[in-house]
Amino acid sequence: TADDLDGPRPDVGVVGGSGLYALLEDAQTLRVATPWGEHSDGLTVGTVGDRRVAFLPRHGKGHTLPPHRIGYRANLWALRSLGVRQLLTVSAVGSLRPENGPGTLVLPDQVVDRTWGREHTFYDGSSTGPGGPGPVVHAPFADPYCPVGRGVVARTAEAAGERVVDRGVLVTIQGPRFSTRAESQANAAAGWSVVGMTGSPEAGLARELALCCTALTIVTDLDAGVEEGSGVTQAEVLEVFGRTLARVRSVVLDAVQQLPAERTGCACAGALDGVELPFPLPGD
Ligand code: ADE
Repeated sequence: TADDLDGPRPDVGVVGGSGLYALLEDAQTLRVATPWGEHSDGLTVGTVGDRRVAFLPRHGKGHTLPPHRIGYRANLWALRSLGVRQLLTVSAVGSLRPENGPGTLVLPDQVVDRTWGREHTFYDGSSTGPGGPGPVVHAPFADPYCPVGRGVVARTAEAAGERVVDRGVLVTIQGPRFSTRAESQANAAAGWSVVGMTGSPEAGLARELALCCTALTIVTDLDAGVEEGSGVTQAEVLEVFGRTLARVRSVVLDAVQQLPAERTGCACAGALDGVELPFPLPGD
C-alpha cells in the first residue's frame, strides 16, 4: 500500500506499452491490493527531477498479457490509491494516415471503442462484484483526454524535436490480431487517425476515477488499409518501438515534470462532482 512507500506519494503515473518495460531507475517496486485483482506487474515508484512518479508496464514485464486480458481496473485503481492524479499512457499504434509515418507521436483528443468483452467500468452495479451494489454512475466522456496534459506533452515533445500531431482520433480494436485491410480502410475512411489495442477501456476507466489522462501514442507502422501499408507484423511494431524508445523515454521523463500538480485548468478532477458514488475513490 501507499504506507509501504519509502518517500512521498507519486502524483504522476505512467503506464507503458509494448517495449516500454522500465522507465525509472533507483525505483522502489511495490504491489497494491485492489478489489479488481492484480495489476499487470510491480509498480515502480521513483523520483524524476522533483516529481514523484509511478510506472507500470501494461503488458507485464515479460510482455505476457495480451490487450484483452490486461487488468485495466486493477492497474488504474492501484495507481490512484498511491496518490496518482495525472496519468500518462504510452502505447504503440498503427497510423491510418499516410502522412503520419512510423516515429510520429500522436496525442489523441478523441477515442472510438471497438473492443468487446473487456471489464470496462468500476460502476458495474452488480451486487456480487467487487464494487458491490450501488447507485448508477454515468461518467461524462465527451472529451476523453485531459486538454492540459495533452498540451504539456505536445510542447515537451516538440521542444525535443519530435514530429508531433497534437490531436486525433484513437480507435481501439479488440486484438490481439491486427486489422484486416477492409477494417483498416473503414477506420481510415471514418477519418480516424491511429489504431491501437489498449486505449479503451483505459481512458474511460481513468475518467471514472476522475484522473487526468493523456495518451502518448507512437506510430510504429502504417495500418493495412492505408495506401503503401503492406500489412503490419508484430516484429515490425517491436522493432520500430525499440528504435524510438530512447527518444520516447526522454519525452516522458521531461513531460512528467511539467504536468500540473494543481488540477485547476481542466474539468477532469471534477468529472464526478455531484454524482453519488458506490464507494470512495481510492487514495482520496
Ligand atoms: N499497435 C501497433 N500497430 C498497430 C496496428 N497497426 N493496429 C493495432 N494496434 C497496433
